[in-house]
Amino acid sequence: MEGCADMRIGILGGTGPAGSALAARLGSIGHTVVIGSRSQSRAVETRDSLVALHPELDGRLEAGDNPAAAGCDVVVVATPWDSAAPTAREFADELQGKVVISMANALVRVGGEFHPLLPPRGSVAAHVQAAVPGSRVVAAFHHVPAKELGHIGHPVESDVMICGDDDAAVDVVAEIVDAIPGCRPLHAGTLSSAAAIESFTAVLLQLNVRYKTRAAPRLTGIRDRQAEPLAAGAS
Ligand SMILES: NC(=O)c1ccc[n+]([C@@H]2O[C@H](COP(=O)([O-])OP(=O)(O)OC[C@H]3O[C@@H](n4cnc5c(N)ncnc54)[C@H](OP(=O)(O)O)[C@@H]3O)[C@@H](O)[C@H]2O)c1
Repeated sequence: MEGCADMRIGILGGTGPAGSALAARLGSIGHTVVIGSRSQSRAVETRDSLVALHPELDGRLEAGDNPAAAGCDVVVVATPWDSAAPTAREFADELQGKVVISMANALVRVGGEFHPLLPPRGSVAAHVQAAVPGSRVVAAFHHVPAKELGHIGHPVESDVMICGDDDAAVDVVAEIVDAIPGCRPLHAGTLSSAAAIESFTAVLLQLNVRYKTRAAPRLTGIRDRQAEPLAAGAS
């Protein structure tokens, strides 16, 4: 199913603001999404409320549990940052060989500010990769506000910086991102870039507080169609 327009995508922790918004957005562009949770009843609630809001998503969203989500072709880890690696590790066998998207940001609120934290291995994504060494971890979606993702009738208007050690896996995620109206996928290097990408989210949150908005990045100087596939032989 790699690189295919209609993928089956699972979301571990898909009941939170980020996972549920991503589920709605991915469903709206033609993927089938399994909303994972530690409790299937929470996944059912999430699926039902998304479908009540967007009836066109009926049939695109499935309420599963985390094991069902881990069984999909591509799997997103959308839990809080400190449970991302342990959650992925729990499903290491199911995730073997698969593209696993890490979107978590290690941040802490100190007074009115958000501060980046240094997780084990330097980034959440690298920590997840160490927890599931047989998987192809790709870091993406860190800077896209959940509310924008969830407004499926509107473009997202953001660059999405994507990094990972497996070029073909990065290309798969870039293809998913490219299909989201308004999103531009940017290949941002290996997983060593994840630390900078994740911690920059603290800056965006500061901007949101300061300017009472939901900021997302747009980089200048890169022509729109310059982001070529990385993998040799990728189409
Ligand atoms: N919110 C945003 O705008 C945004 C944007 C970009 C990236 N992110 C990142 O995306 C991730 C999810 O964000 P969120 O705001 O949706 O987070 P959240 O609501 O705190 O958590 C998401 C889901 O994770 C599961 N979960 C909570 N604690 C867990 C634990 N100890 N072990 C396993 N699963 C647990 C819960 O699902 P169940 O209880 O149903 O299992 C929860 O609904 C975060 O790491 C965040 O940094 C967020």
